[in-house]
Amino acid sequence: MRNRPIALILFFIACIFCANCGKSGPDPASFRYPQDPQLSHRLPQPADYPAVRFIVLTDPHYYHPGLGTSGPDFARYIQEDRKMLALSDEILEAAASEIQTQPADFILICGDMTKDGERINHQRVAEKISRLHPTADIYVVPGNHDVRNPEAVRYTNEGSRPVATVEPGEFSRIYSAYGYDDAIARDPASLSYVAEPVDGLWLFALDSCLWRENEPGGHPVVNGRFSDSTLKWLEDMLIQARENNKAAIAMMHHGLVAHYPGNEKYYGEYVVDHSETIARLLTAYGVRLVFTGHFHAQDITVKQFADLPNPVFDIETGSLVTWPCPWRKITISADQTCTIESRFIKAIDSMPEGFADYARNFALEGTLGLARDALEKYHVSENGMDLLAPQIAEAYLAHLAGDEKQPDTVISTKGTGIMGRLVVFFQKDLVEGWWTDLPPADNRLVIDLETNSWQQPDDF
Ligand SMILES: [Fe+2]
Ligand SMILES: [Fe+2]
Repeated sequence: MRNRPIALILFFIACIFCANCGKSGPDPASFRYPQDPQLSHRLPQPADYPAVRFIVLTDPHYYHPGLGTSGPDFARYIQEDRKMLALSDEILEAAASEIQTQPADFILICGDMTKDGERINHQRVAEKISRLHPTADIYVVPGNHDVRNPEAVRYTNEGSRPVATVEPGEFSRIYSAYGYDDAIARDPASLSYVAEPVDGLWLFALDSCLWRENEPGGHPVVNGRFSDSTLKWLEDMLIQARENNKAAIAMMHHGLVAHYPGNEKYYGEYVVDHSETIARLLTAYGVRLVFTGHFHAQDITVKQFADLPNPVFDIETGSLVTWPCPWRKITISADQTCTIESRFIKAIDSMPEGFADYARNFALEGTLGLARDALEKYHVSENGMDLLAPQIAEAYLAHLAGDEKQPDTVISTKGTGIMGRLVVFFQKDLVEGWWTDLPPADNRLVIDLETNSWQQPDDF
């Protein structure tokens, strides 16, 4: 017993080292552009973006209520999660009723279409999104939950039973009308494709998921990575975009770059592996706007490489089924101004009043539970958990909503006991990270794509 504090300190140190070594695996394939300095000179300058309006939503995590919303296993799943699965159908309906009135050329959905890749959920959500908009084309990519998922189950009062999931070929068949049939090119090694949603604009719809590593009886891989063959295909297509004078945007499920200090240290599986390399590749070929999901937060981050003329913006949108239930409107004008607006689902059929409060409380309660579980593992006292868990949960919710305003005291350890203070000593940077809003603003933003400057307007 006398050695317990020393053992715990060693455990914390081990955790920190493990958290820091999250990016294992081989380096990506070597690219043509750094090895062939003439390549960029032979290519025309990136084309101007055409005037275009589009909608972005992500992580609808559709769950057909017929798969069961009761029983001990469903209760446990919900308790340990932040998604309002039982309301996913209603929330998608509410989103559709708002989106269908918007002028839009196309709609992007950045993955996690389903709870856990259940075939029935894919079939239902594919049918549902056909009514999202009267005229706009829809483009989807898979998320980490969507393909070959060993956790595809239905729930009963006794527990859970496996149901059919989908293989990659079936995913592209189910969503054939949402990018795959319309593609200019498809990557034979993944579910990535390139489409031209409006004349002059190529959409790089990238499958960053590792469904090929999912195994029966295991957990689906949360991490994201591109294979060497996908990266070679991607560079070939980026060169073609330049040769054909097409402007380019990209979408993928995983974050392109870190969205807060500590993102890669603590939650590296939410940023694509080799993120610097991938961001540099896209930026080198003139992709300036990348739309992502996965962490369920409203957050925009910009990456500027010193030797490249333009930055790249990673525009992460929060999940439809996690507070604040956002979707975004993007308008690019002919003068190369990109305006990003955000909207939030505030009412659903069964909750015409009070839905936003319900959704926030749902996210708060789920996060409080997760924070308490984590603190308990570190032997923090009951009183310490009562004091620390709400502070951790408020930081996390601030990050979900975006445009975080850091309080004077990020986390107070007063009265939390020695283990509470020790946990905070080692992991305060995570809470600080959630309270830190890396530039630019997250919910309302105007980017001047010619001067690479931006501002946060107050008037919309
Ligand atoms: Fe998700
Ligand atoms: Fe995800």
